[in-house]
Amino acid sequence: MPWAKLRSHAAYNLATSGVAHWKLRDLPVAIDDLEISGPSFYGYEPLQKALAQHAGVTPDRIVAAAGTSMANYLAFATLLKPGDEVLIEHPTYELLIAAARHVGATITRFPRLHEAGFALDPETVERAVTPRTKLIVVANLHNPSSAFADEATIRAIGEIGPRVLVDEVYLDAAFERAPKSAALLGDQFIVTSSLTKVYGLSGLRCGWIVAEPKLAEAMWRLNDLFASIPAHMAERASVIAIAELPRIRAHVRARLDRNRTILHRFLDSRAELDAPRVPYGTTAFPKLLRGSVTRLCDLLRSKYETTVVPGEYFEMPDHFRIGIGGDAEPLEEGLRRLGLALDDMMEN
Ligand SMILES: Cc1ncc(COP(=O)(O)O)c(C=O)c1O
Repeated sequence: MPWAKLRSHAAYNLATSGVAHWKLRDLPVAIDDLEISGPSFYGYEPLQKALAQHAGVTPDRIVAAAGTSMANYLAFATLLKPGDEVLIEHPTYELLIAAARHVGATITRFPRLHEAGFALDPETVERAVTPRTKLIVVANLHNPSSAFADEATIRAIGEIGPRVLVDEVYLDAAFERAPKSAALLGDQFIVTSSLTKVYGLSGLRCGWIVAEPKLAEAMWRLNDLFASIPAHMAERASVIAIAELPRIRAHVRARLDRNRTILHRFLDSRAELDAPRVPYGTTAFPKLLRGSVTRLCDLLRSKYETTVVPGEYFEMPDHFRIGIGGDAEPLEEGLRRLGLALDDMMEN
């Protein structure tokens, strides 16, 4: 996270995993729609209703949280005691591990393999489960690879035994291919998400957890320690933004389709990169077949003013992550520069 916040910025920033920020002026918000304080207790009722409708569940299953980050933390802190075992996919979003570590959980891992397109394999998960495993953690879509798990796969993981947390912050980037949310597959699932990544609405911090009502209540109580009263203006703007999601989704879809064509054209032209081609999502996670990713990223940044995320942040130092959520022209130029950096590396 310090790298992402302090060192990822560049003229051609391909290091982000979300879609470019949506502007307030592009939402139908009037000043009178926003208010500094309001009736927000265990949720702001209009937002609870909007989130519940978005998630396809009743409002008593929704816990509003400051982004998926807080949603994941609240879920871990509610479900795990120090010493409890939590089984997390590898590679993964680093902060899932950091949050589990922070609540004192013992972390075990199961692999998602490059050779299998980073697919989620229920048998691999089951082999890694022990009698002490309290929680299994996966992301769908997967960060960093954007690999997608279908409903049958998620169901099979739910049948293994322990509860399953599915981080679905990227799921809507699969559009009509997106499977049903795991939240609709049974009470053993806890789902976290937000409007951050797919909808470019990060600044609203509109995140949520979907959990069975008793668990949801425990999470609300825990949230009293951290974010007892949320920023009400953001709650109000979030209600307005959720009503606009169909329009935003159409815009994002066109953007990602166009950018994915650009990305795949680039990947097809580079024999030293091996990346599963995925028809959805906001990121790709190529493997560099020859040479050092650290050297590549340093050169790319210093000589070509372009950043991608080094795979070391996903515990896979021979990979790197490319984000395609920005505008098409800088993406195209950033990829051209990545090509030049690769050429430089291969020559020297
Ligand atoms: C898998 C995953 N979960 C959660 C987050 C954080 O999301 P938010 O901005 O909603 O807190 C990220 C951000 O990169 C992520 O990749």
